[in-house]
Amino acid sequence: MLGKGVLISPSLLACDFGRLKEEVQMVQEAGADWLHVDVMDGHFVPNLTMGPVVVEAVRKASRVPLDIHLMLDRPQDYFKAFMDAGADSLTVHLEASALKEPSTLRETLESIRKIGARAGLSLRPKTAAEAMKPFLDITDLVLVMSVEPGFGGQAFIPEAIPKVRQIRGWYQGDISVDGGINAETGKLMKDAGANVLVAGTSIFRAPSYKEAIRAIRG
Ligand code: DX5
Ligand code: ZN
Repeated sequence: MLGKGVLISPSLLACDFGRLKEEVQMVQEAGADWLHVDVMDGHFVPNLTMGPVVVEAVRKASRVPLDIHLMLDRPQDYFKAFMDAGADSLTVHLEASALKEPSTLRETLESIRKIGARAGLSLRPKTAAEAMKPFLDITDLVLVMSVEPGFGGQAFIPEAIPKVRQIRGWYQGDISVDGGINAETGKLMKDAGANVLVAGTSIFRAPSYKEAIRAIRG
C-alpha cells in the first residue's frame, strides 16, 4: 500500500527459463519485492506463456509475493489452480471477453478476494482510465499497461503517465505499471503516482540485477 515506498516486481517473462530456480533466487537476493508472472492464453493476446505448474515451481524457489498477471479471455476458470500453485494476487483485464459485463467483472473481483487472493484489475493502453473507476472499491491492485500486452521488450507508451496520475486521484491502493519500465520511465511513473514497478528486460538483461533494481527503485 501507499506509504511503504516503491515496490519492484521483476517480470519473469524475461528470465532464462532453463535456469528458473536460480533466476528466481538471484532476483530475490537482488532486492525484488514481488515476482510478476505473465500468463497468456493465445486468445486475449497472441502469445502463449506459462501456467500453474510454473507458478508452483516459482513458489517453491521463493518467498516473496507472487503477482500473477492473467492475460486470458476466461481468467476465472483458472483462479483455483493458480491459488493452489501459490499465487498471492490475481490480476484480470477488464477487456477480457468473459468479463465484459460489469456485473460479471464485479463478481469476478469479489471471487478473487473470497478465495484469499488480492484482486488486481488491469487495462490495456487504449482503454480509458474511466472504465476502471466503477470497480476500484473492490480492487486491491491496479495494473496500468504501458505497452500492448503480449510480449516483453517493447517500447514504453507515454500516454500511460497521465492515466496513472488520473487513477491516483481516485485510488489510494497499489498502482502497478507494466511495460518498458527502466530507471527513466520508472521515475516518470513514480512521479505520476505509481508505487509498484514491474520490469522484465531492464532487470534480466542487465549485468547486475541488484544494480538494475536499485536504479529502477530510484
Ligand atoms: C507484457 C507483460 C509484461 C512484460 C514486461 O505483456 O505484461 O509484464 O513482461 O516486459 P518489459 O519490462 O520487458 O517491457
Ligand atoms: Zn505483465
